[in-house]
Amino acid sequence: MNFWVRRKSLDVLAHIDSSRQLKKTLGWPHLIALGIGAVIGTGIFVLVGRGADYAGPSVILAFALAGLLSVCAALAYAEMATILPAAGSAYTYTYSVLGEGLAWIVGWSLILEYGVTCGAVASGWSGYMVGLLNSLGVHIPEYLAVGPAGGGIINLPAVLIVVAVTFLLAQGTKESATVNVFLVAIKMMALAMFVFFTLQVIHPGYFEPFMPYGFASHVEDGATRGVMAAAAIIFFAYLGFDAVSTAAEEVKNPSKDLTIGILGSLAICTAIYILISYCAVGSWDFHEFAGSREPLAMILRNLDHPTAALLIGAAAIVALPSVILVMMYGQTRVLFVMSRDGLLPRKLSTLSGKQTPAFVTFLTGGFVAVIAGFFKLDEIAELSNAGTLLAFLLVAVSVLVLRVTKPALERTFRCPAVWLVAPVAIAGSLFFIVSLPNLTIVRFLGWNAIGVLVYLLYGRKNSELEKKPA
Ligand code: ALA
Repeated sequence: MNFWVRRKSLDVLAHIDSSRQLKKTLGWPHLIALGIGAVIGTGIFVLVGRGADYAGPSVILAFALAGLLSVCAALAYAEMATILPAAGSAYTYTYSVLGEGLAWIVGWSLILEYGVTCGAVASGWSGYMVGLLNSLGVHIPEYLAVGPAGGGIINLPAVLIVVAVTFLLAQGTKESATVNVFLVAIKMMALAMFVFFTLQVIHPGYFEPFMPYGFASHVEDGATRGVMAAAAIIFFAYLGFDAVSTAAEEVKNPSKDLTIGILGSLAICTAIYILISYCAVGSWDFHEFAGSREPLAMILRNLDHPTAALLIGAAAIVALPSVILVMMYGQTRVLFVMSRDGLLPRKLSTLSGKQTPAFVTFLTGGFVAVIAGFFKLDEIAELSNAGTLLAFLLVAVSVLVLRVTKPALERTFRCPAVWLVAPVAIAGSLFFIVSLPNLTIVRFLGWNAIGVLVYLLYGRKNSELEKKPA
């Protein structure tokens, strides 16, 4: 069979060498916490301001649209995750349904989603941390607080947080998931506090006009505007729920736990985002917080709640590492599985004494630390969105293809109204991709061109399927 379209058997688990099988330690509460841990982060704490700048009060609609797309994709993910409860998520599904070539492209794109996002969040965290330390009288020299692109030498706090998260992950999945539950609780309390103080002062006048810049993404007076422009940016806030599906192999009861984990965490996050954006634009004039790097704290300060503002900043510092934790977890699992399949060097899928993939964890930590410490991330962060959207699209295609080619396959979770939901996920992903800036699309194509080269030079020849076709 042609190497590009050769597929892994749907029965992937039966073919895994037992020395490379991950330990089953997770239940659905861990998965919901993993999902919320990965999803709620910079998107709501910072980008809600950027979204309001692009769309005005209709940033609420932008959150709803991005949420709708994510829910449709999540339903497709849930069906695939229960058919194929193997680590690797979108990469593994695509491999079994659409073939090795597209699977490689998805795996390569997921490196953007997980790796680059980790770096971006670490760098954002560093900004909050340096600010807090400054207010406590501890001054980090500028050359150690920003990377070369910002005029410094290295963003040291960002590197240190990545190193800390890496060591935690190397301890094992269960331990990481337990710490994550604690971080999620802090994040939720901070957002609940924001709702508590703002919901009492909602002013209907702040919602008028609701859509000052119209719907479609366009450039107006040199600035990007429109509900879709906001949606394409704040889509970042939803990145991460799919990391839950990368845990499939380590879940005790995949069919039940994965469905509840994926859909539950996403439903909770969508509701929270709509509520927070409603409270933000309804309690203060959006023009004033649109450009802020800490819009939620700024609104609370303006409403004369300085202590609450300080607390929400502190909560962001404590909670953002949970996004790094889960995203890095997802990254290690995708690399692990790509290596187990022979598409990347085998060394990446060796397990340490505690049955955790320590080698790939440290390698990923090093990669992310370099990005966080030295690169100017705001320009490449949008690439994360592009990589994720491509994964959404191909997972939705995979669900439809399997419904046609293997109608009798046992599906413990069936995506409802699949012929409506999956096409909405496919069309929505495409619409979001074209709403991204052109430069991002070009960079994304460039990244994948490098990927295809690596595949042709290495993966194609070393693929497990080259040795023993499934
Ligand atoms: N969804 C994650 C965040 O908003 C990436 O930080």
